[in-house]
Amino acid sequence: MNDKLIQLIYASSASDLMTEEELLALLEQSREKNARLNLTGILLYKSGNFLQVLEGPESAVTELYETIKKDERHANILTIATKEIKERDFGDWKMAFANLNKLDPASVPGYSEFLNDPFDGKYFAEKPSRAFAFLKVFKDGMR
Ligand SMILES: Cc1cc2nc3c(=O)[nH]c(=O)nc-3n(C[C@H](O)[C@H](O)[C@H](O)COP(=O)(O)O)c2cc1C
Repeated sequence: MNDKLIQLIYASSASDLMTEEELLALLEQSREKNARLNLTGILLYKSGNFLQVLEGPESAVTELYETIKKDERHANILTIATKEIKERDFGDWKMAFANLNKLDPASVPGYSEFLNDPFDGKYFAEKPSRAFAFLKVFKDGMR
C-alpha cells in the first residue's frame, strides 16, 4: 500500500499523576503496537503533562490517534501540528520516552534552552515550531 507518511504532534495532561510503573506499562504497550504498525516517535512527560510526536503511514497514525484520544489516562488533548513528511524525523524510535521530572537537564545537550519554557498544550499550540524543536533536542540527545 502506498500510504503517505505523516507526522502528528499533540499535547495532553495526565488524568492523575502517573507513577514510574504506570509510565513503563504505557510505554511497553506502545512500543509493541508501534512496532507492529510501523510507527515511530517520542513521548515526553513533565509535571503531569505529555508531549508526543507520532509518525508513520497516515492511516495508522490517524487510527492510533483516535484510540489515544479516548484513553482515560489523559485528557485535554490538543493537536499541535500535523504535516506530511518525506522521511521520518524520529525514525530510530518505536517510542522514545523521557520523564523530564527525573532527568538531569545537563545530560541532554540543548535541553537547558527549554528548561524555563512552560510545558503545556496551550503554549505548544501557540508555538508549534517550539514543540518540534523541543522534541528534536531529545531525539538528538537520547542516542
Ligand atoms: C499519553 C499517551 C500516549 C500513548 N502513546 C501510544 C503510542 O505511541 N502507541 C500506542 O500503541 N499506544 C499509545 N497509547 C496507548 C493507547 O491509548 C492504547 O491504550 C493502546 O494503543 C492500546 O490500544 P488497543 O489495545 O485498543 O489496541 C498512549 C496513551 C497515552 C495516554
